[in-house]
Amino acid sequence: MTSGRSDSPSIGVFDSGLGGLTVLRALIDLLPHEPVVYFGDTGRFPYGPKPPEQVRAYAHQIADVLVASGVQMLVVACNSAASVALEELQDRLDIPVVGVVEPGVRAAVQATRRGRIGVIGTVNTIASGSYQRAVAAAAPPGYTLTCCACPGFVEFVENGDVDSDQVHVLAERLLAPVRDAKVDTLVLGCTHYPLLARTIADVMGRDVVLVSSADETAFEVRALLDAGARTPRTDGAPARTFVTSGDPHTFAALGARFLGPEVGTVVPWNWNRR
Ligand code: DGL
Repeated sequence: MTSGRSDSPSIGVFDSGLGGLTVLRALIDLLPHEPVVYFGDTGRFPYGPKPPEQVRAYAHQIADVLVASGVQMLVVACNSAASVALEELQDRLDIPVVGVVEPGVRAAVQATRRGRIGVIGTVNTIASGSYQRAVAAAAPPGYTLTCCACPGFVEFVENGDVDSDQVHVLAERLLAPVRDAKVDTLVLGCTHYPLLARTIADVMGRDVVLVSSADETAFEVRALLDAGARTPRTDGAPARTFVTSGDPHTFAALGARFLGPEVGTVVPWNWNRR
């Protein structure tokens, strides 16, 4: 990735690894002509079990890299980072910064039939209280909320395993609290989890609506573009850049599987040489 401001306004999207590609997919589908830069911090994943201060520092570092590359909007496509750093990033940067927690909660509030909402996420996300606060602000009176952390899910996804017996066994164990709480709607409060949707749906049963923040986040980005100085682009083949701090070959292979053909060359990023 080159440094310095690009002539081509673009949206920067980041996650600890591949999970944010679920948000990028929705963005590309909604805004197919918008140039994007995706940064997957695969070399330092997972964020979920790390101390919040460390994740906060990572989020600021990546935001600075993306801003220096010329992005005009930032999407924190990582619940763990958004839960601990979104407000700071919004205060510090002079470009719009969009998170994934509020959009996911909006989608859940629209989807729930009986107000029985569940949220699953990383240890960091659940411990931060971000979903508890966002649901309290948006949910109808009388709702119930059950939150549970799912340590281990992200590692399976980053290894390309989304439906093995092992991940199924783990899902049976980790999802027991939300299943026992008889939630009717389950927020996938980690951007990696939509990639496990089939396994999670098998365990939760067909009556439970699984909600991801991806589409709502993309709508928020479009609304911000509409409200800003320019309208979303409607033609042209946009530049799409992929950057990883991990192994670019693995990222390219799994990225193509999880996102699609849009993943071309993946640019390596080495934090130690900066
Ligand atoms: N995909 C991320 C999230 O939404 C990060 C997961 C991790 O690195 O632990 O929380």
